[in-house]
Amino acid sequence: MNEEQRKSQSQIKQVESTKVEKPLSEKTTADFAKYFQTTYQPPDIRKARKRYREKIEVHYDFEIPDDMKEIGEGKKFLIQTYGCQMNEHDTEVMAGILTEMGYQATTVTEEADIVLLNTCAIRENAENKVFGELGHLKPLKMEKPDLIIGVCGCMSQQESVVNKIMQKHQHVDLIFGTHNIHRLPHLIKEAFYSKAKVVEVWSKEGDIIENLPKVRHGKIKAWVNIMYGCDKFCTYCIVPMTRGKERSRRPEDIIQEVRRLAAEGYQEVTLLGQNVNAYGKDFEDIDYTFANLMDDMHKIDIPRVRFTTSHPRDFDDHLIEVLAQGGNLLDHIHLPVQSGSSEVLRRMNRKYTREEYLELVRKIKQAIPNVTLTTDIIVGFPNETEEQFEETMTLVEEVGFESAYTFIYSPREGTPAAARKDDVSMDEKKRRLYRLNELVNHQAADSMQEYQGKVVKVLVEGESKKDPDVLAGYTEKNKVVNFRGPKSVIGQIVDVKITDAKTWSLNGEMVENQVEVN
Ligand code: SAH
Ligand code: SF4
Ligand code: F3S
Repeated sequence: MNEEQRKSQSQIKQVESTKVEKPLSEKTTADFAKYFQTTYQPPDIRKARKRYREKIEVHYDFEIPDDMKEIGEGKKFLIQTYGCQMNEHDTEVMAGILTEMGYQATTVTEEADIVLLNTCAIRENAENKVFGELGHLKPLKMEKPDLIIGVCGCMSQQESVVNKIMQKHQHVDLIFGTHNIHRLPHLIKEAFYSKAKVVEVWSKEGDIIENLPKVRHGKIKAWVNIMYGCDKFCTYCIVPMTRGKERSRRPEDIIQEVRRLAAEGYQEVTLLGQNVNAYGKDFEDIDYTFANLMDDMHKIDIPRVRFTTSHPRDFDDHLIEVLAQGGNLLDHIHLPVQSGSSEVLRRMNRKYTREEYLELVRKIKQAIPNVTLTTDIIVGFPNETEEQFEETMTLVEEVGFESAYTFIYSPREGTPAAARKDDVSMDEKKRRLYRLNELVNHQAADSMQEYQGKVVKVLVEGESKKDPDVLAGYTEKNKVVNFRGPKSVIGQIVDVKITDAKTWSLNGEMVENQVEVN
């Protein structure tokens, strides 16, 4: 072990769950040493399940320490985001923290003094992209030794990844986990002054840190976390290990955040959680569920409220009833099914059958007749038979999904499914994905045809990427619409008559008379 490796190893300290009572801003790395992991543990379901007992604390006292408020004056940062909406929102928080430290954002890597890679571990290709980028950054670091390169996000929560970075990517200065984001000022300072590799990945995950600064992407739509973590332990999935246990933000904090966003002129919020339907189940003092939260959102004067992602298992009748009120609660529900075969669903630990999923869809359609359903599907789960795959195909048709994110199963180290033998070849998995995508594309195109000649409400987000003379926005059902119109309508909801329907987007003309059509 060389000097640098020895130093960095010594920074991975011991894990304990003793509480520290100082305000967050005054805590030092030594205060937190108790929470660090001694050695990295591969994800372990049995250990992860023990976490239910840890108490959740909410902290409202986040502050950038005085001596770090100007540390970034005249310097620039760049954060690259690889993951889901939660990951994107974490980037907004890190951008907020760095901005309060005096740093300015840049999109040019060569200009940056700090480059953070906010990573995703959900599938192997997500990880490969990050290792590829680390390779690209090496020459820049050689040229600019003061550049701080950091790796954060879900990959950092995995032992194998941290080890690989330690061994093969010596030019990385900083590695921190998903529970350490609020520690960024301290970590940057350490990376800046010590010049040894700084590693801080907590296994403790019980806390919620409120009032973190954010630099949001745009002034029209905003992400709002309502809960963190996941306790579902689907057998293929790494998220319960990388994001920790389910913990809900207090309703009053969420309501206040959404009210503020509405007052600032935001037109749309998307409530975020890995399984938003489990919201509130961890409250010990109040009986308040996701349905209650959506009911409260319904009363807030903001035009559009979306949510993602909802797990079919916890989608109860009360929630359906609340969503059926409509108004700002949009009639688009993303409801990941993963597979149409009850046997595969059992092996995935999804805890519902094909029939139960279809029954839930029936209830939703009955209560919200105009509803649009979209989904996530994994093909080629270990030992998925041809018949089981066919069951997915028939389910997709039966539900009539208007779009779907489709994936080939990717084994994730430490998850139960990854330990199983798999007799389905990669060629076969690719063939199934291709067939599924054909079907999904076909259904998507059909659903778009129905919009021909209709008037839809479009939240205008800006100029279209392809043509600055064309505006682009989203319908209530999240379909992209391109149309010509004055730039003054950017940020507003306008009526657009559809003239041309493609598979993934619609073209139209703005109409002056406001006609209410869905
Ligand atoms: N919490 C959400 C999903 C978050 S991950 C839910 O349960 O609905 C987003 C999607 O990635 C999942 O729905 C699943 O379809 C896919 N996914 C997760 N793990 C995967 C793996 N190991 N291989 C392939 N796809 C995976
Ligand atoms: Fe992963 Fe399942 Fe949790 Fe979704 S519900 S994040 S798929 S474990
Ligand atoms: Fe990826 Fe982590 Fe999101 S693994 S999908 S960034 S929760």
